[in-house]
Amino acid sequence: MNEDDVDRLDRNRRHFLTVATAVTKLAGVGAAAIPFLSSLKPSARAQALGAPVEVAIGSMEPGEMVRVLWRGKLIFVLRRSEEMLSRLPDNLDNLRDPDSAVADQQPDYTANEFRSVRPEFLVVEGSCTHLGCAPLEDFEVRPSENWGGGFFCPCHGSRFDLAGRVFKGVPAPTNLRVPPHRFVRDDLILIGQDTGAA
Ligand code: FES
Repeated sequence: MNEDDVDRLDRNRRHFLTVATAVTKLAGVGAAAIPFLSSLKPSARAQALGAPVEVAIGSMEPGEMVRVLWRGKLIFVLRRSEEMLSRLPDNLDNLRDPDSAVADQQPDYTANEFRSVRPEFLVVEGSCTHLGCAPLEDFEVRPSENWGGGFFCPCHGSRFDLAGRVFKGVPAPTNLRVPPHRFVRDDLILIGQDTGAA
């Protein structure tokens, strides 16, 4: 073996060692990632990808609201009482879009007087249409303030009624958005999926 052969052998050894080290490192990263991914339950993995979210509504009392996350968005599900529903026509003149004319803010099947599939259940995104703050529920009726209950955004004072319809004279330009959803059963709503007609 001459000097050139020894040089070539050394270079080959160094190259082999470099590649072997890189492969070992990658294998380490992969091995660390696999337990992490498999530690997510199927429902968590599906939700991370934006899958529909089920909301059990069977035990909700009238006037009760639950919050869930769908695609990282806060969703309000409010079971409106008969009394709440009876107040919906009270303030039509003070609402900016009482008839849900802005088509982007709800699926066609909720562009009705209740903005819902079933009058009792309101499903809206909990994101103010001004700059995206989360509105607070304010269901207390205060006749002296002409307030029949609804949602209040503390960031800049936008107000929405019990159907998520925005009042005139506030910064929010449109009603709260209604996400696609449907009733799988009487006691179960699926948010993020519909059949085109809920
Ligand atoms: S973000 Fe709600 S009023 Fe500004």
